Amino acid sequence: MTEDTFSPPTSEWYYPSEEIVNNAWVSDYDALYAEAMSDIEAFWAKRASETLDWFEPWEQVLDRSNAPFFKWFVGAKTNIAHNAIDRHVKTWRKNKVAFIWEGEPGDRQTITYWQLWQQVNKFANVLKSMGVTKGDRVTIYMSRIPELVYTMLACAKIGAVHSVVYAGFSEQALSDRIDDAQSKVLVTQDGSWLRGKIVRLKDTVDEAVRRSPVVEKVIVARRTNHEIHMESGRDYWFDELMALPVASPYCETEVMDAEDPLFILYTSGTTGRPKGVLHTHGGYQVYTSTTLQWVFDIKDDDRWWCAADPGWITGHSYIVYAPLILGATSFIYEGAPMHPYPDRWWRMIEEYGITILYTAPTAIRSLMRFGEAWPNRHDLSSLRLLGTVGEPINPEAWRWYHRVIGKERCPIMDTWWQTETGGFIVTPMPSVGLKPGSATRPFPGLDVDIVDEEGNSVPAGEDGYLVIKQPWPSMLRTVYGDPDRYVGQYWSAYEKQGWYLAGDSARKDEDGYIWVIGRIDDVIKVSGYRLGTAEIESGLVSHPAVAEAAVIGIPDELKGNVIYAYCILVAGVDGNDALVDELKEHIRHEVGPIAIPAKIEFVDKLPKTRSGKIMRRVLKARAQGLPVGDLSTLEE
Ligand code: WTA
Repeated sequence: MTEDTFSPPTSEWYYPSEEIVNNAWVSDYDALYAEAMSDIEAFWAKRASETLDWFEPWEQVLDRSNAPFFKWFVGAKTNIAHNAIDRHVKTWRKNKVAFIWEGEPGDRQTITYWQLWQQVNKFANVLKSMGVTKGDRVTIYMSRIPELVYTMLACAKIGAVHSVVYAGFSEQALSDRIDDAQSKVLVTQDGSWLRGKIVRLKDTVDEAVRRSPVVEKVIVARRTNHEIHMESGRDYWFDELMALPVASPYCETEVMDAEDPLFILYTSGTTGRPKGVLHTHGGYQVYTSTTLQWVFDIKDDDRWWCAADPGWITGHSYIVYAPLILGATSFIYEGAPMHPYPDRWWRMIEEYGITILYTAPTAIRSLMRFGEAWPNRHDLSSLRLLGTVGEPINPEAWRWYHRVIGKERCPIMDTWWQTETGGFIVTPMPSVGLKPGSATRPFPGLDVDIVDEEGNSVPAGEDGYLVIKQPWPSMLRTVYGDPDRYVGQYWSAYEKQGWYLAGDSARKDEDGYIWVIGRIDDVIKVSGYRLGTAEIESGLVSHPAVAEAAVIGIPDELKGNVIYAYCILVAGVDGNDALVDELKEHIRHEVGPIAIPAKIEFVDKLPKTRSGKIMRRVLKARAQGLPVGDLSTLEE
């Protein structure tokens, strides 16, 4: 969880069975790690040439000349869509199932590689007919439905850059992200199903597009079939476009440079402005597919279920791109885990024979609350591996997941990584010993350390900052449109050494196992979702009653963290319960429902440094009744 509930390293070990170790792609982590570190470039070049097709080979594996603007596979020509779909339809795999999909109301679809390829080609032609060309940005605001996958891949195929905005974000958050990317085309759906209700996505889009007139065309997939507004000349139905002659089932795949942009994914940072993390075609495909194959030991007969939302990096890398590159079969479920009963997930694991489940600690904790009877009602024996991501997993939830879901047979892959890293960085593999709550050790080829402010490695058991000391293929290339922010945010703290600062604090234990503690910046993880204090604060201040606001994360048993907000009201405004409700509603529209504070308090003053920076540490300590610590920099 966060530093306040962090439990120290345990001496509890879990070892995978001999059978698992012997059958795993990687059965000797130490040997592979040593091999990779002896020559990182040779290691990645070998993976790239042995597992992927390239239209033209690279001249250089890694170009460090303009660090931290590193380049991978320089000069190579490729397209991730070629490796994810095109190449598979030329083999037996064309008849393999790429996706099994279940909607929340219970409807289903099975999509083979061939069908997927056709849908992507058709939609790529639709996008082209809308004037989308190489390098153009397309914003996607959709839930977990197959059309979302088609749209992402269609963009990649024609060299357009997708920007998926999580469908839980509000009109303002969506509009900010559209403006930053300057997308002329937006793809959405009428609504999505969640907990038996319709989420009216198109209404949110209408409002966002009113605020962001840069959008010229809106394509709407039909999902919930409720009445929506369709603006003539701007809005088009997805299915109607797909039925037009222009949507022919073959579209040439654009030849891209390895370093050409693939997508922008906005994530929160230290200012209110969203930060567009940029990933590219070349290195990203090498790294995501390698990590998925080795960490989750993907085999041809697996049924892989990454239960994340495609609106976040986990969905980009491990629902869409990596599984398809590996030619895997994935399961996607549209809706809420407890709908209509808390055994929905367990029922689907049984019914579809899911072999690997990858989810977030917050989901495990919320399912755990309903007790063991729900999972025990189902045969979960198809499972062979489990995984978690998004925040540190508390050992109690880890043990429950291991015992009740994995029946003590399935090793748990606790993967530490970020939007910026593109793929797993600190992670076990099925052949290593596990300790509940630790993401274990770095992936081969990754040089991760815990250091102090000067850059000295801290001794075992002490807190420090997590840094990555060598570039890796799926690292972010820049912050879209703001290279200075890229340098400042990630590379300036250890400029001399040239290390990447992740923004997390962590410890190493005597065995070299890494224990991530939590964020060191103004990022709050609520139910695994990454939110920035600044975006919520500017949302609060945009309400006429609020003069100033400060937002903090407070540890919560279920959600990891919840948001507390402190507001100074403008003179003469009465801070009553009705205003609290109004501000919560306001945040729902400014940022989204996930950002609604659990508590809003009206105050006269906020603790600030002499330079005017809010001391969140003081607010946090006070809210939890803890000692506030050193106050020498406090102004008043
Ligand atoms: C946190 C999610 C502990 C961490 C893929 C990181 C984790 C941030 C873990 C990135 C984990 C993610 N253990 N903490 N296994 N995985 N985090 O960009 O604070 O949404 O910096 O990427 O989530 O969040 P993001």
